[in-house]
Amino acid sequence: MEGSMKLEIKPLWDEVERVREESASFLTSKGLEKDAVFSLSMVVGELVENSIKYGKQGDEKALVGISLDVSGGLVTVEVTNLVDDTAYAHLARLDRTIQWIRGFQDPFEAYVERMKEVARRQMEDKESGLGLVRIAYEGRAILDFFLDESEILNVSAVLNLE
Ligand SMILES: Nc1ncnc2c1ncn2[C@@H]1O[C@H](COP(=O)(O)OP(=O)(O)OP(=O)(O)O)[C@@H](O)[C@H]1O
Ligand SMILES: [Mg+2]
Repeated sequence: MEGSMKLEIKPLWDEVERVREESASFLTSKGLEKDAVFSLSMVVGELVENSIKYGKQGDEKALVGISLDVSGGLVTVEVTNLVDDTAYAHLARLDRTIQWIRGFQDPFEAYVERMKEVARRQMEDKESGLGLVRIAYEGRAILDFFLDESEILNVSAVLNLE
């Protein structure tokens, strides 16, 4: 079945679980299997967490947008947030991480590399740097991003249901 869903939330941690649940029911209603629903909900959760963590802070109007689209055997997840100066500084890291993941034949290798790094550096939980590699490996999704002319960041993950 095909269709799409859009949500807008305030950038608050409490909203993450709700978005995950609503995404799961939407995807289930489109006939996706349990495994796909589970991993896509994880993908949505990781992207929304990033938008809350790195997007524009302290602005009531700085909503996070979530869009899910199921069509042609593909599921596209898009999460948008406003970018301020702090968020801007993070974009280089976002870009680097996505390019770095693409450099691996198999995203599992990227995942293993990052796990080793986390163990070695005992990084703080807040910035363990695992979200995007989880999306690529566990979520089997292709990541991309762009910044539009009105300073809105759009991060996408596309999963082929085959
Ligand atoms: N929406 C975003 N806006 C700006 N920068 C981002 C955004 N999402 C991710 N980034 C940048 O990309 C980096 C990697 O993101 P990723 O989700 O992989 O790791 P993390 O959020 O640091 O850690 P974890 O997800 O394991 O808690 C982030 O540390 C941040 O610098
Ligand atoms: Mg993250």
